[in-house]
Amino acid sequence: MDQPSATDPDPEGSGDGAGGDAGGDESGDESVIRTRALTKRYRGGQLAVDGLDLTVPAGSVFGFLGPNGSGKTTTIRMLMGLIEPTSGTARVLGRPMPRAARTVLPHVGALIEGPALYGFLSGRDNLVRYDAADPTADPRTRNTRVAAALDRVGLAAAAGKKAKAYSLGMKQRLGLAAALLQPRRLLVLDEPTNGLDPQGMREIRSLVRELASDGTTVFLSSHLLDEIEQVCTHAAVMAQGRLITQGLVADLAAGTRGRLVVTTPDPADAARVLKEQGAGDVVVAEDRVTADPPDGELADITMALVTAGVRVRGFGVERASLEDAFVALTGEGFDVAG
Ligand SMILES: Nc1ncnc2c1ncn2[C@@H]1O[C@H](COP(=O)(O)OP(=O)(O)OP(=O)(O)O)[C@@H](O)[C@H]1O
Ligand SMILES: [Mg+2]
Repeated sequence: MDQPSATDPDPEGSGDGAGGDAGGDESGDESVIRTRALTKRYRGGQLAVDGLDLTVPAGSVFGFLGPNGSGKTTTIRMLMGLIEPTSGTARVLGRPMPRAARTVLPHVGALIEGPALYGFLSGRDNLVRYDAADPTADPRTRNTRVAAALDRVGLAAAAGKKAKAYSLGMKQRLGLAAALLQPRRLLVLDEPTNGLDPQGMREIRSLVRELASDGTTVFLSSHLLDEIEQVCTHAAVMAQGRLITQGLVADLAAGTRGRLVVTTPDPADAARVLKEQGAGDVVVAEDRVTADPPDGELADITMALVTAGVRVRGFGVERASLEDAFVALTGEGFDVAG
């Protein structure tokens, strides 16, 4: 039965519908999203996503990280069945996409780049429309659901205002509220904090944590490294359509050595000694000298500094951030566009 072949991208056959429980993961693993060699080349010839193998474990808050143009939205559109991949496969909740979209999507809340809103309707009435478009939603409890969703994203007070008068951040919140009308197994959020002020960003982050603690898997894209570090358990890093790495956030950063930092009133001497000790990329900024630590024992470096008469006020290795990991992996600054 289960005979994967090289020519059939989906060996499972077209069995969705019949006994089509989107919860059934026939492959028996715990991944909520799984792609294999997923590729999208746009009609203009742009290779936006290139051979992506993504595995999103159940219960994770998964950060999909990459600079502008790295293929995040394109990937999300393929996952949600909005566009067809050029090649490769995508499975969501254990089912092939886009084929099983009808069975899968009711379990998935999605917020994708600029939610479609009716400007002439109030925020509340926009949600009422969304809810009414869901055949599984009970009309008798519609108002309660809408009120709860508005409350959850902090829009209760502005619910009567026309959506066209909403700020970008308010529109973003309304889109998120639409994704939260029903309990979901998976939330897919494309840059959910885009356009929000710092307070709004904090609110969305705490909402994401709250949803995750209820057991919802959250897949969120961002070009903000610190955002991913703050909320995500797992992350995948994209650059120019290709997956650079994926795994536990803690492991991604830990795989990279942080910067050596020496605080000293003798920075020039300190820099010389660090270079002699084999440190790379030595940078002096006033009384701070930073460098990539050489292999070997850090204590040897402190010894060398002291022996050379360098007065040391502070010495340590800064914890590597995801940004350090990104730069180490790609050899590029994070702001480079694809
Ligand atoms: N409809 C389209 N037709 C042609 N090319 C496209 C289309 N949409 C996106 N692209 C190109 O595909 C690449 C990936 O774009 P995508 O929107 O997926 O990136 P992204 O990571 O979401 O970027 P951002 O952080 O700016 O949202 C870019 O080079 C983009 O110009
Ligand atoms: Mg995008």
